Amino acid sequence: MSAVVEEPENAPVGGGPDRFVYVQTFGCQMNVVDTDRIFQVLAPLRYQPTDDPSRADLILLNTCSVREKAEQKMLSELGRLAPLKDFNDDLVLGVAGCVAQQEGARLLDKVPYLDLVMGPDNIAQLPGILERVRAGGGRVAETTFAGRKDYEFIEAVPQSPGKVSEFVTIMKGCDKVCTFCIVPFTRGREVSKPAELVVREVETLVASGVREVTLLGQNVNSYGKDRERQPHFAELLRAVDAVPGLERLRFTTSHPTDCTDELIDCFGELRTLCEAFHLPVQCGSDRVLQAMRRPYTVEHYLGRVARLRSRVPDMALTTDIMVGFPGETEAEFEATLALLAEVRYSSIFAFKYSARPGTRAASMPDDVPEAEKQRRLREVQRLQDGIYDAMLADHHDKTFEVLVEGPSRNAARGGPDALQLMGRTRQNIVVNFPVPVGDLWSRRWIGKLAPVRVDRVHSHSLHGQLA
Ligand code: SAH
Ligand code: F3S
Repeated sequence: MSAVVEEPENAPVGGGPDRFVYVQTFGCQMNVVDTDRIFQVLAPLRYQPTDDPSRADLILLNTCSVREKAEQKMLSELGRLAPLKDFNDDLVLGVAGCVAQQEGARLLDKVPYLDLVMGPDNIAQLPGILERVRAGGGRVAETTFAGRKDYEFIEAVPQSPGKVSEFVTIMKGCDKVCTFCIVPFTRGREVSKPAELVVREVETLVASGVREVTLLGQNVNSYGKDRERQPHFAELLRAVDAVPGLERLRFTTSHPTDCTDELIDCFGELRTLCEAFHLPVQCGSDRVLQAMRRPYTVEHYLGRVARLRSRVPDMALTTDIMVGFPGETEAEFEATLALLAEVRYSSIFAFKYSARPGTRAASMPDDVPEAEKQRRLREVQRLQDGIYDAMLADHHDKTFEVLVEGPSRNAARGGPDALQLMGRTRQNIVVNFPVPVGDLWSRRWIGKLAPVRVDRVHSHSLHGQLA
């Protein structure tokens, strides 16, 4: 089901004054997309996004609680913003996202100047919530999960004109119950967005100039399992791949348990599906995996990797690693290092375990000392840095198809007569390359596929020349 955001009855009509909304986004891509939906539902109320909190009539912190210190960070940020209320009596200050979902009305008790608290499932209700707050209806905490049957996805409309690459949410929530993870508590059960809606959103994005989409969910490869007569993930990939004008397709994030042969076989088969796969493993020990309630073994995982690489030898794999889970021994930690050395990921996200309130693991003794967690994290990162450097060095003198996203951060580095552009390879590696400054001429490249030959390898990117 999709929700069409309608104008509330008291929405300003005609040329009424604009209001400004400032949203600070913490955490994962999911929150970034939620922030876009917040802007979208507020647009009919004439709220314009602003980067300047002192101009705002509405300030929202879109929070994350997946790892430690999220709540302290949010509280200190609120404290920093609170004085703005002295200058603007109409300023509404709110907390959205995962901390809001977890804390609910308790946050209003803790923070006396807070006006509203709103969970990730309540974005479509934001106009009504604001109306209640503004009409003097008091402070509002709205954190109800919509049931699976009546959850409504907000049909996304492009928020940033000119973007080449966009995210498309295909599901919400997570039905896995990894013992360390707060997500099932803050995002609720899995609900898949109907496939025809996903395809329609991709078509709309492509019509607006987008060339690459990344399908987004906590667990995209279990897509469709929650509904009858719903295509499963590999079928959805095929449907999106068929959208005319789309050049590249990616997805994130996946669970090794649902990594089927059919999904693996999509790589190399579907024209747009890029050779990049984020497949979180967490650690290299079967005992720890079991304690995390990750229902696969290292052997099963390596089997998936072997099949992927046998289909697509230049597959770029990325992963999430956690060190210092309760009870993790030195030998178990070393098994994680061995796994990293064997798989040779092109990049990893590595985290120190921290207990999340209400999770199963929070009741286990958090017995790896902080300094030891730090050391393990450093070792993981050092090993990975070496692997990555060697991998990048291998790109020297080779030519890659680069999807051009725009001027690079150091656009002027191209020299006096050249503009430096930035794009990515299908394996998601950033490549910068110069093009001559002919006004239209360089702009013409944006959104195009350019063959670029690599002439320099930097620590986190490549540099090249048009081939
Ligand atoms: N499927 C999700 C996973 C969410 S959390 C996704 O969108 O990526 C992302 C990563 O954070 C997890 O894979 C895990 O490595 C890490 N993480 C989750 N809970 C954690 C905790 N309690 N402590 C440390 N790291 C954690
Ligand atoms: Fe969290 Fe595990 Fe789901 S990491 S998001 S419970 S797959």
